[in-house]
Amino acid sequence: MRRIIFATKNKGKIVEINEIMKELNLQILSLEEAAIDIEIIENGSTFEENAIIKVKEIMKITNDIVMADDSGLEIDYLNGAPGVHSSRFEGENTPYDIKNNKILDMLKGVAEEERTARFVCVIAAGFPDGQIITTKGVIEGIIGYEIKGENGFGYDPIFYVPEYKMTTAQMSSQLKNQISHRAKALNKMKELLKIRLGEAI
Ligand code: IMP
Repeated sequence: MRRIIFATKNKGKIVEINEIMKELNLQILSLEEAAIDIEIIENGSTFEENAIIKVKEIMKITNDIVMADDSGLEIDYLNGAPGVHSSRFEGENTPYDIKNNKILDMLKGVAEEERTARFVCVIAAGFPDGQIITTKGVIEGIIGYEIKGENGFGYDPIFYVPEYKMTTAQMSSQLKNQISHRAKALNKMKELLKIRLGEAI
C-alpha cells in the first residue's frame, strides 16, 4: 500500500481525508503517525504558497508522497481578510467566540449584498520525483448577523450558506463534509492521484 504523509496535527482532518480517499487504497498518515516532528513557518501570502511551503519542508525528510492543506475565510468587505491569517486573526489563542464577534462588529450595518465571503482550501501534493501539484476548493456564503450553530469549528457559526439556509455550524458533519471547501479540494486531488498513480496503487 502506498503511503501518504499528510502535514497536519489535526486528527479530525485525517479521518475526513481517509474517508474521501478510501477507494484509492492508500495509507494516509499524520505527521505524528509518521514520527515527524517539525515546526513549519507558514509565511506565504496565498493559500497555495503556504500549502507548498509545508509540502516542501516535509519532502526534505521523507521519500513518501507528502500532502498538506491551507485554508481560511475570505470576506469581501474586508478585502479578503482574515484570509491566510484566519487562525492568527485577533491572536492565535483567542477563542473563536471572540474572533467571530469581532467580525460581526466589523460588519455592523453592512448590507447583505456586501457580506459575501468564502471558505477556501488548497491542497498540495509532492511526489518523490520532486513534482508538486495543487487543487483548490471553495464554498461561497455570507457573513451572518449573529452566531448560530454548535457544530463544526472556527468561523462556522458566522458563515451562512444561503443555498442551505443555515450556517456551516448548523450543518451535520456529513453534509458539511460533502460540500465544504476541503471536501471539494480533496475530491479534486483524489481524481488527480488516480491518474498520477494509476496502476501503482
Ligand atoms: P488551517 O488550514 O487548518 O490552518 O485552518 C486555517 C483557519 O481557517 C482555521 O483555523 C479556521 O480559523 C479557518 N477555517 C478553515 N476551514 C474552516 C472551516 O471549515 N470552518 C471554520 N473555519 C475554518
